[in-house]
Amino acid sequence: MLRGARLLVTGGAGYIGSHAVRVLCDLGADVVVLDSLYTGHRPAVDGRARLIVGDVRDPAAVTEAMVGADAVLHFAALALVGESVREPERYVDVNVHGTRCLAQEAEAAGVKAFVLSSTAATYGEDVPSPITEDQPQRPCNPYGESKAAAEAVLAAAAFPATFLRYFNAAGAMPDGSLGEDHTPETHLIPLCIQAATGQRDQLTVFGADWDTPDGTCVRDYVHVLDLVDAHVLALERMLAGGDGAAFNLGSGVGRSVRQVLDAVGSEVGPVPSVDGARRPGDPPMLVASAERARRELGWSPTRDLAAIVRDAWAWHRSHPAGYAG
Ligand code: UFG
Repeated sequence: MLRGARLLVTGGAGYIGSHAVRVLCDLGADVVVLDSLYTGHRPAVDGRARLIVGDVRDPAAVTEAMVGADAVLHFAALALVGESVREPERYVDVNVHGTRCLAQEAEAAGVKAFVLSSTAATYGEDVPSPITEDQPQRPCNPYGESKAAAEAVLAAAAFPATFLRYFNAAGAMPDGSLGEDHTPETHLIPLCIQAATGQRDQLTVFGADWDTPDGTCVRDYVHVLDLVDAHVLALERMLAGGDGAAFNLGSGVGRSVRQVLDAVGSEVGPVPSVDGARRPGDPPMLVASAERARRELGWSPTRDLAAIVRDAWAWHRSHPAGYAG
């Protein structure tokens, strides 16, 4: 159904966006990428897509990128919890104001569907897992607040919008051609690989005294390609006349930090680690109920933690210094 569809992908040079662009081009879509390259990487953009270097807050760039668009996938955002606490205004500006600019242009262009990259961080700290979409959204940091506000902007728009609330995105293109390249890197799996390969001394476990089965935090890790599959299904549903909705994208299975260390240990080699202090703002457990996405989108993740680590390792092995290397 996406063959020939004209899709605007913001943030298509970023981690999840670049994987989406590759898959959408494979499906025959006509893809335009709008990316400021602030955190994105030019080499990550599939050669079949047209790249416009520009910001979602720049009406001229957005107008140019929106010409003829059937649908928008909006990945471009700031997405670091710690940074959002230090610089909350930037998160409002980029994530909320940026979404508003895009939505206005999308309405003017008459797009038929809009998919927003949202986050489990919109639920807040004290939500019992597994988390369903009906849980109240009480974000506990400016990043989560900004994404909840972006959802509200789109809920009021003239086109159907789907909010995909990612849990912990991880993994890479299995052939190692695309992957995660953040500066600074803060995510657990790439940090474990860097520690296992000697690129950093050790991994600090942020708290080993939580009220969880092994004392370390539990998260729901989802392969980036499974996330992309959900975008395709959400787009197809809306382009076929279906409503927008909110979906949690997680596997429903929680993994502790120690389990991730063990998985990286099996695939890559032992991960030197030390138990450290808790990281402020970390909830002990964030696991999705993936029931609604399964029921309404027909989506369930097919790649487990071993596959996630294997693919992240394939990327790291071929690009030890990221896209620059
Ligand atoms: N962790 C460590 N040591 C590290 C890094 C991480 O122990 O050096 C732990 C964290 O405490 C956490 C787990 O590994 O328990 C995963 O941490 P990440 O930083 O990889 O991911 P987060 O769960 O903090 O955040 C991710 C996304 C956010 C999103 C959130 C919502 O990066 O954007 O999931 O689920 F908001």
